[in-house]
This record gives sequence, C-alpha cells and structure tokens, in this order.
Amino acid sequence: MARKILAAGNWKMNETPSETKALIAEMVKTCASDTVDVLLCVPAIDIPAAVEAAKGSNIQIGAENMYFEESGAFTGEISPAMLVDAGVKYVIIGHSERRQYFAETDQTVNKKVLKALEHGLVPVMCCGETLEQREQGVTMDWIRQQVKIGLNGVTPEDAKKVIIAYEPIWAIGTGKTATSDQAEEVCKGIRDLLRELYGDDVAETTRVLYGGSVKPANAAELFAKEDIDGGLVGGASLKASFGDIVNYAK
Ligand code: 13P
Repeated sequence: MARKILAAGNWKMNETPSETKALIAEMVKTCASDTVDVLLCVPAIDIPAAVEAAKGSNIQIGAENMYFEESGAFTGEISPAMLVDAGVKYVIIGHSERRQYFAETDQTVNKKVLKALEHGLVPVMCCGETLEQREQGVTMDWIRQQVKIGLNGVTPEDAKKVIIAYEPIWAIGTGKTATSDQAEEVCKGIRDLLRELYGDDVAETTRVLYGGSVKPANAAELFAKEDIDGGLVGGASLKASFGDIVNYAK
C-alpha cells in the first residue's frame, strides 16, 4: 500500500511572524526528506512569513482553521479564498481545541470540510475522544459519528484527498501518548468506516494520522503501524528537532 507518510505540525497559538521566519529557516534544513511529506500548519498571521521562508523547500504550509462562508460580515474570520491566495494548500478543521473553546460542532466541521474542498484546500479533519468516553467504552462510536458527519456530502473522489487526524483529547499536550496499539486500533476503525462509506479504493488511499504527544522518541513506532499514515504534532513541531520526526526512519 503506497500511502506516503505525512509529518504535520500544528503550531497552535505560538510563534510571531518574525519567530516564524527564523524557525522555518532552520526547519528547511532539519526537515528535508524525499520520502515523507512535511506540513506546518501555522497561525493565520504567520502564513505569509511561513510561505516565504519555506519557498523552494519540501515544507508545505497550512492553516489551523478557516470559515465556511465565501466572504462578508464575519468579523475576525478568514475565508478559504484568502488562504488559497496566500499560498496555503492544507487547513486543519475541527481540532478538539476549536471544538472545546470555540464551540465548533460536527456540523460546522462538515461545512468547513465541504468549503475547503470546493476551494481545492486539503482538509485535515480532526476527531478524538475524551478520557471519560474512552473509559465508558464508547470511543469508536464517538469517532465514527464525528467522521461520518464531518464527511457528510463529500464525494468519493474528494474523500481521497481528505486527511483524517485521530487525536485522543487525553493525549494532547499531556505527554501521555496513546500506545501504538491503541492508536492503531482507532485509525484502523476509521479506515473500516471509510470502507463502509466509500469502498476499498477510498479506504486504501485516504491518509489517517495520529496526534497526541507525538515526539521523536515515539514517531517510528507509531508510523510503523499499518493504518497510521503519519502524525499531527503539536509541541514537538515548534522546534527544529521536528526534523527527527520527519526523519523517523533514520
Ligand atoms: P501535542 O503534540 O502537543 O500533544 O498536540 C497534539 C495536537 O493537538 C496536534 O494537533
């Protein structure tokens, strides 16, 4: 199966434009790779600096969010056309922090996914359970619902372009990584759902990432799993040593 591993960073609300320029200048060197795709999703205001600093390198730049309308009276929001014009190709949609602090729902996630695809942006659609849900044994029910609603109305052709990131909320920023078996179990469950919804071709093509305390020390074990096609990395993507995750196989 030829799904290329993707090492994706999510900078969250970190780094100013000047810091972005300096950090990416270093990362251009540490993150060089022929075999792994590299993506850094950065705060909207850092996008121009990031695109400029990554020019000519293998690092792609993404956004962390966007709005689902074309334009108009939505103070403070960023439209898909603005992202595209700024040189962005990917956009994280529905991160658990957006759901928790900014009231995003599976329905708004779905609208954003459809709108991103309409503009040729690749959505990195996030899903993940709380610790309570895991303990109640409803993890897969919850994830299936999030993914199913998130992809509602997405064609098979477009579903192949979407990247799904499984991020258990209890593993984000806590240092508590899911074991590679726990991560694989859910990522495989997501692929099984893609098979049910769209068939084998989509299920075997769509990339499913794991996120939650991914670091250089655990990347190789996680990425070796059959259904884990890379990582969505928070804290460890804020250092040039993110390159050790990109070059996990070395
Ligand atoms: P950490 O890698 O800091 O746990 O964050 C994961 C995450 O939320 C990436 O989107």
